[in-house]
Amino acid sequence: MHGFKKKHEEKNEGLKSMNGKTLLVTGGAGFIGSNFVLQSLALDYTVVNLDLLTYAGNLENLASAEGNPKHIFVEGSIADGDLLQRLLAEHKPAAIVHFAAESHVDRSITGPEAFVETNVVGTFHLLQAGLAYWQALSKDDATNFRFLHVSTDEVYGSLGPNDPAFHEETPYQPNSPYSASKAGSDHLVRAYFHTYGLPVLTTNCSNNYGPFQFPEKLIPLMIHNALNGKALPVYGDGQNVRDWLYVGDHCRAIHEVLLRGRVGETYNVGGLSEKKNLDVIHILCGILDELHPEGKPHDQLITYVKDRPGHDRRYAIDCRKLQGELGWAPQQSFESGIRKTVEWYLDNAEWVQHVTSGDYRKWVKANYAERSNA
Ligand code: NAD
Ligand code: TYD
Repeated sequence: MHGFKKKHEEKNEGLKSMNGKTLLVTGGAGFIGSNFVLQSLALDYTVVNLDLLTYAGNLENLASAEGNPKHIFVEGSIADGDLLQRLLAEHKPAAIVHFAAESHVDRSITGPEAFVETNVVGTFHLLQAGLAYWQALSKDDATNFRFLHVSTDEVYGSLGPNDPAFHEETPYQPNSPYSASKAGSDHLVRAYFHTYGLPVLTTNCSNNYGPFQFPEKLIPLMIHNALNGKALPVYGDGQNVRDWLYVGDHCRAIHEVLLRGRVGETYNVGGLSEKKNLDVIHILCGILDELHPEGKPHDQLITYVKDRPGHDRRYAIDCRKLQGELGWAPQQSFESGIRKTVEWYLDNAEWVQHVTSGDYRKWVKANYAERSNA
């Protein structure tokens, strides 16, 4: 497990925390959740990490926290009300930070049910348990308690090339089972604030990339395939636009919102870095040509494949509320973040090898075999 500790030190300068308090983090063995857990431990939080360890959850992401008594890992589901009640009573967290979800759009197209179960029904159970816990707290503790729901910009739908970026008042228009299920969870969270007064916060973030991302998503999939001389499958014409944010910057935004966000509000989080998919792939290939010259030029592997059904054309985020109210700004540019990310995947071949064995191969076969005729 030791190879995963290399080159994954994030700077937390200037970031403040609820000193020494306990957080209940859900989904903390996944990509963003594990980055958040490591950042929270560095900020001196105690973290109770509840994760079901689905295909996307991986304890190896947390290897650098091994032996840290402030990290309490619990394998279990957000849909298990009894377990939630016990964990809340035992650990008395100052906040719940909710990452647990099914998160991959392509999987939501082939298997939407799990998305409704986890993202909608699971969030409902977490809200119920959180509400009962909060209602029994002392006045002071109840005033300071937070339920922070981590969501996505995909709930807003798809933009045309000249449309203004999504802002917090943009109407919801989710297009995939993934984004529809996240929209459902956002609405439930909102309703628990308006109906019961539960002190909630919601963040809607753009596409993340960085260490520990499962290689089913665009950036780690392209790095993995390029390193193995496999086709780089571009959906459709490759002109779809995403706004990319380095995962450490997303986690910093969540910490800021947790500490100083206004209760009941939503905050958009974005990387101020819109890129077409094809441009992202060319940038990755250029860095790989330099750092891993075998197989150069890597962009010869680019292959156009059948498009994703209902593929959103463009996402862009207006995060001026977060910047103006809380003074947050991304520390990584796309250029610096993507280089760090490629270096991390090159340094952590063992991690990649572990997560790409077994079921991963079945997924790749099922998802890409059907797309072979572009
Ligand atoms: P991920 O798929 O890497 O991780 C999800 C984690 O949730 C896994 O560890 C999994 O085991 C766990 N999980 C699934 N079902 C569970 C259940 N019933 N109970 C407990 N744990 C369960 O996802 P990610 O990319 O880290 O995304 C985390 C959150 O951030 C999600 O809510 C996602 O919608 C949101 N988000 C992701 C992105 C992105 O670019 N990845 C962008 C914006 C928002
Ligand atoms: P993805 O990482 O799945 O994130 P999301 O769909 O949530 O934005 O995909 C990012 C973009 O890359 C999206 O436009 C789909 C595209 N894509 C490909 O072109 N090829 C691939 O193999 C994958 C996984 C994604």
